[in-house]
Amino acid sequence: MTIEKLTEHFGGNGVSFEDFHGFPAVRLTNEYSSALISLYGGHVVEFILPDTEPVLWMSKKSLFQQGSPMRGGVPICFPWFGAAPQGRTGGHGFVRNQMWEMSAAGIAPEGGTFATLHFQNDDFELFYTVTANRMLTLSLEVVNSGVADLEFSGSLHTYFNISDIEKTTVENLDGVSYLDTVLKQDDIQHGTLHIDREIDRIYRTCGSARIKDTGFNRIIHVDKYGSDSTVIWNPWVAKSQRMQDFGDEEFRTMLCIEAAKVPLTGDFGIAAGGMPYELRQVIRVELPD
Ligand code: BG6
Repeated sequence: MTIEKLTEHFGGNGVSFEDFHGFPAVRLTNEYSSALISLYGGHVVEFILPDTEPVLWMSKKSLFQQGSPMRGGVPICFPWFGAAPQGRTGGHGFVRNQMWEMSAAGIAPEGGTFATLHFQNDDFELFYTVTANRMLTLSLEVVNSGVADLEFSGSLHTYFNISDIEKTTVENLDGVSYLDTVLKQDDIQHGTLHIDREIDRIYRTCGSARIKDTGFNRIIHVDKYGSDSTVIWNPWVAKSQRMQDFGDEEFRTMLCIEAAKVPLTGDFGIAAGGMPYELRQVIRVELPD
């Protein structure tokens, strides 16, 4: 659908449409915040609050082309997290590289503005509702619309904008066990997480995490539902240099905290005809008074 047609069908009440690097995107604007969601990948690319730096990070070297995921914002990893299962190709699933459709948009009942995007294939349907108000709420509903059982994993792979990795810590993980996929071993978090090397970890927790950023003078609360693993990723020096869509120094100003559902603790899915599943991440920024 063109931007004109999208505007005609869904525009108004704080909802508008614009071009974002060659793809249509829906902008949510209200008294509290502004958010931008690309229909390519159902990818949230911007969340802006007054009186603070942008909450989400986007690489200056991101690709914006059919077939490639964007590097930054909130990629939706689905129907698998990480390496492709046998017989499939592409890391982190394929829906982040597909066009989504608008399903609904308008004033959110809880305040602010929302948009619901839709993706469908023969096996499943996804309804992704993004609500922008004082917080950013990302809700991915998975429906098994096929005739067989649906197995999947996935994540809301949020890239946070930080002032400086040396001024940033992650809190509320004390005592949580994790799989360190760099060292390929299990470990337990002791106290606050300081990042001073490549970090790629799957923390086994349903709980929240907090990003404490003394450079931007803020705390970002990352809450979640329907997720028993929190993935924390920063590529650090060598991996940054290996990625073509990532600047060599950009690891200093980004940090991924993902609400994930990964099969670490056994198989997971929705039986044929089973109830939908929701994966949700809620992002709230605390500023000093
Ligand atoms: C994280 C993974 O979720 O995503 C990392 O834990 C991976 O291993 C990172 O490198 C980025 O993945 P991609 O496919 O977007 O380059």
